[in-house]
Amino acid sequence: MDADAARGRVLLEESRESVVVLDDADRVIGASRRARQSIHGLEEGRTIPEGLLSGDAGIIPLVVPYDVDGRRERLVYLSRGGDLTAYEELRAGFTAAVSHELRTPLARLLSLLETATLPGEDVPDLVDRARSEVDQIRELIDEVLFLSELESGTRVVSLGKVAVRPELDAVASELEERASRAGVALVVAGDAGIELAIRPRMIRVVAQNLAENAIRYAGPGATFTLSVERESDSVVLRGTDDGVGVEESQLPRLFERFFRADRARASRGTGLGLAIVKHVVTQAGGSVEALGGLGAGLEVRCTFPSAG
Ligand SMILES: Nc1ncnc2c1ncn2[C@@H]1O[C@H](COP(=O)(O)OP(=O)(O)OP(=O)(O)O)[C@@H](O)[C@H]1O
Ligand SMILES: [Mg+2]
Repeated sequence: MDADAARGRVLLEESRESVVVLDDADRVIGASRRARQSIHGLEEGRTIPEGLLSGDAGIIPLVVPYDVDGRRERLVYLSRGGDLTAYEELRAGFTAAVSHELRTPLARLLSLLETATLPGEDVPDLVDRARSEVDQIRELIDEVLFLSELESGTRVVSLGKVAVRPELDAVASELEERASRAGVALVVAGDAGIELAIRPRMIRVVAQNLAENAIRYAGPGATFTLSVERESDSVVLRGTDDGVGVEESQLPRLFERFFRADRARASRGTGLGLAIVKHVVTQAGGSVEALGGLGAGLEVRCTFPSAG
């Protein structure tokens, strides 16, 4: 076996997908371990079990034909209901991360309660701190629930068109007081006539997350601008600040769940805000991007297809 063939065999065997290679007579040439573990009858040389290729077995096959040495072969992905394997892994990782995030405030809560039973402790103060731990747990649970709601449904897109600017104004005025306490100026800009086919609540979710981040991280003296603009065939909703920013190499990771830049570790927050923003925007057919650099502020751009 030459090096290419050997490499191909390992790649196939170790694939995370359920994938099978067939010859031109539907006989199995090879299969990933994952496929052999979940589907019977994939031994080499055997004809692929009936129904697998036609989708009758509840598996939707994705077939990739190719030619090798003049022979026709096919690579067949056998995933159930779309890309379930990748999705399952994502889910498993997510559950682990959520449990980990919950454990920290729960451990602090437990130790506060234990301290409160000791003689001579400042009980009202301990209760206060316990309450703030509970708030943090509740916030996390709300965020997780909202994320899973987003993932399972189509609750993002609206049937009609919604003017964006009034929602931005509403978010800014709600957060005005917190912003001024943090020394961050809030500005809203954009034509009141720009519309999107997205639920008003979702515009507020996006705007609120971006504004809260600026209030929390940009630093005193910074200005945060929420704006909506038309750009050729798109509508761009943007949150820009001129604060401390994030290291350039970390920009693409900001939208990952639970990702927090190093310097934010000391502050409260779970790292779900921008993951939620990304979900909302992509479910509405748009895309997100973070620009900036350390000391150069942060710009989060959400580009939507124009509502027409
Ligand atoms: N305007 C900003 N300036 C500097 N850093 C930012 C800014 N916005 C976000 N970040 C960085 O991006 C990280 C991820 O933000 P995200 O909103 O996803 O999570 P979070 O604010 O940490 O927690 P949550 O929003 O779930 O309460 C933050 O922890 C912070 O490090
Ligand atoms: Mg946030």
